[in-house]
Amino acid sequence: MYADNWQKHDYLNWLYKRLIAIKEILSEKGSIYLHLDWHIGHYAKILMDEIFGEENFANEIIWNYVSGGISKTCFAKKHDTIYFYKKSSNAVFNIQKERNIKKFSKINPSKIFEDEKGQFIWYIRPNTNNKVPNGVKSYLDKYVQDVWEIPIVNPQAKERINYSTQKPEALLQRIIEASSNENMIVADFFSGSGVTAAVAHKLNRKFIACDIGRNAIAATRDRLVKNNADFDILKIQSKTENEHIIKNNNFNNCSKEKDNAFITIKPYKNQFLCTIEKYASPYLKQKIDSYNNKNATRKIKKPPIIISDNGIELIEAVQFDTTLSKNIWTSNLDLEDRTNSKEQIKASYILATDKFNIKIRNIVGNEIIICSKDIIAHMKK
Ligand SMILES: C[S@@+](CC[C@H](N)C(=O)[O-])C[C@H]1O[C@@H](n2cnc3c(N)ncnc32)[C@H](O)[C@@H]1O
Repeated sequence: MYADNWQKHDYLNWLYKRLIAIKEILSEKGSIYLHLDWHIGHYAKILMDEIFGEENFANEIIWNYVSGGISKTCFAKKHDTIYFYKKSSNAVFNIQKERNIKKFSKINPSKIFEDEKGQFIWYIRPNTNNKVPNGVKSYLDKYVQDVWEIPIVNPQAKERINYSTQKPEALLQRIIEASSNENMIVADFFSGSGVTAAVAHKLNRKFIACDIGRNAIAATRDRLVKNNADFDILKIQSKTENEHIIKNNNFNNCSKEKDNAFITIKPYKNQFLCTIEKYASPYLKQKIDSYNNKNATRKIKKPPIIISDNGIELIEAVQFDTTLSKNIWTSNLDLEDRTNSKEQIKASYILATDKFNIKIRNIVGNEIIICSKDIIAHMKK
C-alpha cells in the first residue's frame, strides 16, 4: 500500500534533507536523476539547483509515455519530468542512440549497410550525383535527445509485476547506460518495484535499492531472485512481528504462524487443488480498526473499511516452492499469483504435487510460509 499524501512544503523539506544526504555519498563520477510527477517536480528543481549546483544541471528530460488517454477539460497529461544533474564535470556520460523510427519505419534489410558510425542507408548513392560523388548516407540511429518516448509497462508485459508505480525497464536502462559504466554502483532510494536494481544487475552494475514499504522490498527481492542476482537484504527499519520472514531470503523450517491462513488441499483430477479458504492478519485488523475508529469521530466520514469473511482481499501475493530441496526459496513461476488493480488473488491453485511450501504476502508486506505437510496433518486431525 503506497499513498502520495504529503503537503507540498512538508514534502519539500523532507526531500531537501534526503537530497543533501544523497549528494554526500554520490561519487564525483556519478549523476542523479530525480523523477517526480507534475505536482511537485518544478518545485523540486529549485532544491536541486541549490544542492547540486546550477552548473551541474544536465537535462530536464521529458518522459512521454506514448499511451492513449484523453481529457476533455485540458490536454491529456502524458509526460513526467526527470531532472538530471551531474555531481561534477568528471561524471560519466555515455552517448545513447536510438532507432529513428519515424524516418525508417519500413525498410528493406538488403538496403541497410554499416560503417564505423553504425547502420545506414544511401540517401544519395555514390557516383549518381556530380555534386556529391561519394554519396550521402542516412543513419538509422539518432542521438537520444531530451524527449524520451518510452511506453509504460503494459499489462501483458513479461516484466510486469503489478507494483502500482512500476516503471519500464527501458527507461532505467537508458539512464543507467548513459550515466554509469560496468561495475559502478547504481542506487535507487525509492525503489518500488525494484526495476532499477533489476536493470542494473542485467547491465553488470552493482546496485543498492531502498524502500520504506515491505511490499516493495519483497517485490524487489523476488525480482532479483528470479534474475539470479546475488544480494543481501541488510536492514529493515520497522519492527513488526514478522520481520524475520521478510528479512531472511533463506529459510530452513516452516513458519509457525500458519494460524493466519486456513488452507485446504484436495485430490483433483490426478492432481491437487490447494485453496486458501481464509486469511487473517491481526496486525492489519488492528490497523484497519484504528482507522475506522478515527474515521468515526471525523465530521466528514469516509466509508469504513470492512474486512470480508475470508479476508482474501488482504493478500497481495501468493507463491509456491515445489522444489523443497534447497534452503533458498525457489518460486514456481507458473503458480505465482498477485493482485492487480482490478482483481484479487485467485486463492485456488492446481498443483501436480501435494508436497510444497506456500508463501502468502499481505498488502503491507508481511509474509507467512506454510508447508503442505502441516496443512495435510492439520486436515487429518
Ligand atoms: C513512485 S514509487 C517508486 C517507483 C519505482 N521506480 C518503481 O518502478 O516502482 C516511490 C516509492 O518510494 C517509497 N517510499 C516512500 N517514502 C519513502 C521513504 N521515506 N523512504 C524510502 N522509500 C519511500 C514507496 O514505498 C514507493 O515504493
